[in-house]
Amino acid sequence: EKGGYPSFMEKEINDQPDAVAQTLLGRTNGEGVLTLDELRVDPSVLKSINRIIVLACGTSAYAGQVARYAIEHWCRIPTEVELSHEFRYRDPIVDERTLVVSISQSGETMDTLMAVRYAKEQGAVTVSICNTNGSTIPRESDAVLYTHAGPEIAVASTKAFLAQITATYLLGLYLAQLRGNLFQGQIKDILAELAKTPAKIARVLENAEQVKELARSMAETRTVLFLGRHVGYPVAMEGALKLKELAYIHAEGFAAGELKHGPIALIEEGQPVIVVVPSPRGRDSLHAKVVSNIQEVRARGAKTIVIAEEGDESVREHAEHVFYIPETSTLLAPLLATVPLQIFALELATAKGYDVDQPRNLAKSVTVE
Ligand code: M6R
Repeated sequence: EKGGYPSFMEKEINDQPDAVAQTLLGRTNGEGVLTLDELRVDPSVLKSINRIIVLACGTSAYAGQVARYAIEHWCRIPTEVELSHEFRYRDPIVDERTLVVSISQSGETMDTLMAVRYAKEQGAVTVSICNTNGSTIPRESDAVLYTHAGPEIAVASTKAFLAQITATYLLGLYLAQLRGNLFQGQIKDILAELAKTPAKIARVLENAEQVKELARSMAETRTVLFLGRHVGYPVAMEGALKLKELAYIHAEGFAAGELKHGPIALIEEGQPVIVVVPSPRGRDSLHAKVVSNIQEVRARGAKTIVIAEEGDESVREHAEHVFYIPETSTLLAPLLATVPLQIFALELATAKGYDVDQPRNLAKSVTVE
């Protein structure tokens, strides 16, 4: 059942092109118009919402953070992301015009379930993004968008994460379509770009050996820092979480811009720093800013490992190792940039002899608060 792979996790990482394709399947009417028929919420209700709160825990919360960038950009609806267990205990402001989007692979995470119940009591409209058909959170929500990534067995979430991000893009585009924030042609273009991602993920997987080799050489590492900006920031945090969970290595993901506000003090000779670099074709000065962050840590002795877009030669001179991912738009890049980080954690944990499917102290679904 591991499909010939040594672990469920490795199988699930390799399932990702298919997982994303399954999430996208059947969501348009053939003319590029999103249908999302299963999302049984009255369109007039979705039109009237003035705020979105995304609730989730762990990796699913990082998917939520990626979603925020896309949803705010496409729909112009203020969007917050909050850990489910924090949300409930701070007397949050929620009403009938608040859309609460919960994200849960299992659909059974108690913290998220309780947060959704609370939001519902306060009158919010609740939509669940979930991978497990018929589980509790979707049953208790007003509507559900299933990710259809297939069962995820390994404790560390991989394919569900990419599928969740994909589902949030669909939700964001659907809202933009409904509310007229984007032209139909723009939506069509983004969907066409999304449709190309499974093949691009497959290309990242083909280059796994390069990442694995580096991971094996770093089995003795005590701490690894991850940096990213914009959507690269949650990707950095996800990379750090995978390394903690699987390899029991201290790892931290930072917003690259935050470096000089404290974390740069951690950098000493030989400290590995993994940097998620945005596309140089993107707007603003995101790319230049991240490149200068790489220079800053390198000047202080960091060993820099970089995930960058194919063709971006500017990073080479600042990095010990560069892993290239195919070109895509800035907002969709997490679907590609996450993959080398998953492989890195998997291989490093394997090199240390750990059970990657069942890391110590963890459960696949956390059904207690
Ligand atoms: O089933 P859920 O998506 O609600 O689970 C949330 C977290 O417990 C989960 O993502 C956890 O962080 C994973 N072990 C991450 O790999």
